[in-house]
Amino acid sequence: MRAISDQHRHLHAHHSPEAWDERYGDQAMWSGHPNEALVREVADMTPRTALDVGCGEGADAIWLALRGWRVDALDVSGKALDRAREAAEQAGVEVRWLHHGLEDLPDESAYDLVSVFYPALLRADGSVLDVLLDAVAEGGTLLVVHHAHVDRERAREHGFDPDDYVRHEDVLAALPPTDWAVEQAGERRRTAPEGPGAHHHTDLVLRAWRKVSA
Ligand SMILES: C[S@@+](CC[C@H](N)C(=O)[O-])C[C@H]1O[C@@H](n2cnc3c(N)ncnc32)[C@H](O)[C@@H]1O
Repeated sequence: MRAISDQHRHLHAHHSPEAWDERYGDQAMWSGHPNEALVREVADMTPRTALDVGCGEGADAIWLALRGWRVDALDVSGKALDRAREAAEQAGVEVRWLHHGLEDLPDESAYDLVSVFYPALLRADGSVLDVLLDAVAEGGTLLVVHHAHVDRERAREHGFDPDDYVRHEDVLAALPPTDWAVEQAGERRRTAPEGPGAHHHTDLVLRAWRKVSA
């Protein structure tokens, strides 16, 4: 028992807001460009309300806002959000930046688009997947994108075990066909941006529409 709780403690410490702030360091971590799959999947949608979960330095949220979406964007890292805020100011758009984890999203939240790119949501935090799905309004879209073909050994060498996190298959399994229509679930090649994610060349894209109850 003790070994398990120590392991959990370690996991949470490794993925605490402080650990993420430390990872973000003193200079921009990501490319500053919106994720390719976001641009492709969302370009034809009518802009309404959107939530970007784990928004990092804000490039996706800013791109959405520039296209007319009313965007809330959340992240546990204050450092990432400071950069996001600055980038939004430079782009001349308004985004509501929320400094907390997905697990602390208010119950009544409902968005027409909920996007999560390369999620760092711990599976051990059981209800996080429920919070994610509940955040999508009826008639709204859930877009979750992971890296495909993750090199587990390489990831573990960097202190990160992909199986500790909500995976593509976890999200897919949580979507009952009575309530959700899965519009896309599979691999898509991507043009890798510069930065720490540059070795990932394939996305695992899940796009699902939440049915409107009768
Ligand atoms: C791999 S990064 C992806 C950032 C961004 N979506 C992108 O595509 O560049 C994962 C992000 O999730 C954030 N994060 C970690 N735990 C979180 C949580 N519980 N809820 C929301 N975001 C979280 C991290 O701070 C980090 O910015």
